[in-house]
Amino acid sequence: MPAIYPDLRDKTVIVTGGASGIGAAIVEAFAAQGARVGVLDLDAEAGTALVDRLAGDGATAQFEPVDLRDIPALRAAIVAVRAALGPIGVLINNAARDDRHPTEEVEPDYFDERMATNFRHQFFASQAVLPDMVALGGGAVVSLSSIVPMVGMGGMPVYSAAKSAVVGLARSLARDYGRHNVRVNVIAPGWIMTERQKTLWLTPEADAMRAERQCLPRRLVPEDIARVAVFLASEDASGITGQTQVVDGGWL
Ligand SMILES: NC(=O)c1ccc[n+]([C@@H]2O[C@H](COP(=O)([O-])OP(=O)(O)OC[C@H]3O[C@@H](n4cnc5c(N)ncnc54)[C@H](O)[C@@H]3O)[C@@H](O)[C@H]2O)c1
Repeated sequence: MPAIYPDLRDKTVIVTGGASGIGAAIVEAFAAQGARVGVLDLDAEAGTALVDRLAGDGATAQFEPVDLRDIPALRAAIVAVRAALGPIGVLINNAARDDRHPTEEVEPDYFDERMATNFRHQFFASQAVLPDMVALGGGAVVSLSSIVPMVGMGGMPVYSAAKSAVVGLARSLARDYGRHNVRVNVIAPGWIMTERQKTLWLTPEADAMRAERQCLPRRLVPEDIARVAVFLASEDASGITGQTQVVDGGWL
């Protein structure tokens, strides 16, 4: 039974990339806390279906279709969530895409696109909601990194660089906004079995390697990350900021 944090009830939460995968599990976890959840994603079909299902269960959730690489559109989506659900007290910077890209094939446009998909929106989403958090007397940002840069995994150097940048941004924002009681933390997942991972990368050989590497042999699932995100956003984590929580079953 997941923990319930009473301070999250009626809080307005934004989850980027919340239509599927880990983001959708995070959306569901906040809805279960009684929070009001704004979901930003470019997958309109999945995002609408998720929000409709949650609304059917009595939750308050709003979907904004947006490509987060488009910063004016990202800003407009946050304005729309604020108008519908109230000032934003929690931001979960989750959206990303772990496409593989050999170093020798990366051109400047592709490099910029990778950074826009995997990092840039975290800065501008944070920038857009921080005034709300300051006015509310506090808030929490939780940003998704990865253990990829920590293990030095190859095959996706710009994704890895973007995921390192997530940590630098979070530590800097934690320093600048701590005086306003705004906490900024990072989750670094190991291998989490989303539909995308299962479809693209999960082979029997890779799964055996994963089970060998992890201390806990089981496959981690999106809910393993969602529960930590909810904890870090809650007042139970009120003394934690500027930190990276690894959730990898003991891979590192
Ligand atoms: N699954 C893993 O094993 C794993 C491991 C380490 C880190 N992570 C991180 O966890 C987070 C979630 O990953 P996931 O595995 O759930 O991914 P996913 O691909 O399953 O879901 C990502 C969601 O983000 C959305 N999205 C992607 N680009 C977007 C854009 N430009 N604009 C709007 N929405 C966009 C997608 O539509 C999708 O709904 C990411 O930050 C990822 O880097 C995941």
